[in-house]
Amino acid sequence: MTTPTHVSIIMDGNGRWAQLRGEERLFGHQAGAQSVRDVVEAAAEAGVRYLSLFAFSSENWNRPKKEVDGLMELLIESIREETPNLIKNNVRLRSIGDLSHLPPYVGDSFKHSMKETELCTGLTVVLALSYSGTWDILQAANRYAKDRLDGNVHTPLDVALFEQYLSTAEIPPPDLLIRTSGEERISNFMLWQLAYTELYFTPVLWPDFRKKDLKKALAAYARRDRRFGIIK
Ligand code: FPP
Repeated sequence: MTTPTHVSIIMDGNGRWAQLRGEERLFGHQAGAQSVRDVVEAAAEAGVRYLSLFAFSSENWNRPKKEVDGLMELLIESIREETPNLIKNNVRLRSIGDLSHLPPYVGDSFKHSMKETELCTGLTVVLALSYSGTWDILQAANRYAKDRLDGNVHTPLDVALFEQYLSTAEIPPPDLLIRTSGEERISNFMLWQLAYTELYFTPVLWPDFRKKDLKKALAAYARRDRRFGIIK
């Protein structure tokens, strides 16, 4: 079976999952954190090299303060609790996004966990935090423009050079993007990087998405015929 090198997931449906149970949205996010643990384990077992998770978008800052604060708390708690496990399982943690936008205690905690796992050589988990695809492209363009003006770079942009400025530099583009909860949109995720990614949509709400669901998505991927715009 062809295993994708990089799997990306838009984890959607936590709020609806909670509503269906007459609970607050945060209850759904808490259950979603358990799905994250399950899927990280399943991805490592399947031999996936990179797993990127859209955990908090630039637009999510506009949600009610109570939900944003609760999500930040949950992220920190989960990362703190899971870091020893990540090290034990040789999993490296990275992040993409505008970390400067996160409350300092959250950013610092992430940086600490990333440092602790930096020598791990197994699966790399990439958490997208305060991330959006348009933000990524703009920050890359601005950094390139500055380097060019400062005389650090002398060549015009091409694809390979531009990709060095994206937050995903050194990370291969996703082979497979999974979105849960029945929504069929990219929602400002990795706009540049998804150019040739296989898309997989499932009605399963994120808190219900477990190992078996990832396996199903990987099996569907293995049946796809990828052509990258070329005739084979
Ligand atoms: C989308 O569901 C989910 C999020 C905005 C947050 C994802 C966060 C987690 C799964 C928490 C834990 C994460 C880690 C990395 C430990 P939604 O709220 O948009 O659901 P809805 O569309 O049903 O309202």
